[in-house]
Amino acid sequence: MPCTVVTGAFWGDEGKGKIISYLALKDQLDVCVRTGSVNAAHTVWYQGKRYALHMVPAAFINEKCRLLIGVGANVHIAQFFKEVEVTNVKNRIGIDHQASIIQEKHSIQDKTNSHLKGVVGTTGWGVGPAIEERVRRSAKLAKDIPELQPYLTDVAREVNNAIDNGNKVLLEGVQGLMLSLFHGTYPYVTGRDTSASAICSEAGVGPTKVNNVLIVFKAFMTRVGGGPLPGELPKEETIKRRWFEIAATGRERRAAPFNFELAKKTVMINGATQAAVTKLDILYLQCKGARTYAELPEEAKQFINEIEKQTGIPVVLIGTGPEALDIVDRRK
Ligand code: IMP
Ligand code: MG
Repeated sequence: MPCTVVTGAFWGDEGKGKIISYLALKDQLDVCVRTGSVNAAHTVWYQGKRYALHMVPAAFINEKCRLLIGVGANVHIAQFFKEVEVTNVKNRIGIDHQASIIQEKHSIQDKTNSHLKGVVGTTGWGVGPAIEERVRRSAKLAKDIPELQPYLTDVAREVNNAIDNGNKVLLEGVQGLMLSLFHGTYPYVTGRDTSASAICSEAGVGPTKVNNVLIVFKAFMTRVGGGPLPGELPKEETIKRRWFEIAATGRERRAAPFNFELAKKTVMINGATQAAVTKLDILYLQCKGARTYAELPEEAKQFINEIEKQTGIPVVLIGTGPEALDIVDRRK
């Protein structure tokens, strides 16, 4: 029953795109299902090229992998076609016929709502309003759009068949638990639940079909938009530590040191069985490009040990650079 859910630990931008692209090649994934919507970008670096994916699953770098967009995702038609072209995946990508369409009017609703724009700090893609429309039972669906006809499929059936046939399936979560509509720092959250259970629901996979929940941590915490960030550092300090990041949207990410109490909470609610830690090379320079655990400096190993001790789950993947293959893989 080889089905893994990849979920974000904190406020998104943990490097899930990198981890998923690594697994796509290393584990020879057969199927990858993207959940969530266009507000979340997954970055994949491969063969010197950078891809920022808002729609296409991050496993695309494995040319044999079937790529699916789950029923719980909102499809942004223009972005979908743009990415399908850049990644050249036209012949192996499918969209659930009952996924909702996100329209220009939804983005305008986000951008003109002062609470969402000024307080919550929405990305402005219109994901919340598109979900509202779905809840009102007036949403446009993928099956209503003529250009999408060649891509339509029953994602739940495809994925469940793949799992039952012993194929390797990955469910790609977006954002992170602290942005969950239910479990996050409400009201500074996104318009959907982001937990591992919600990822399964959006893909149409029941909880008994999943055997692995891989939670992705970054070696420090970041957040864009409003809301609390425990231990937040002043911008000058984040620059000094090289933790300062600018999101694809051009917004500055706030940053704080890794928080073990929050780590325990997110592991619990996600039911995580394994962890990945990305950007360890930013915390400890000597880790850059390492591909074996033995190469890591002592203090980096201690940090990893502490995460394992406090959360009770093994850290199996460690990111040591931006490229998909810059990883220490501790799995057997
Ligand atoms: P919205 O979901 O676009 O309305 O944004 C709501 C909140 O979630 C804002 O604070 C955003 O910055 C944050 N957010 C949404 N998507 C992402 C993401 O992919 N990464 C990080 N933050 C996100
Ligand atoms: Mg991102």
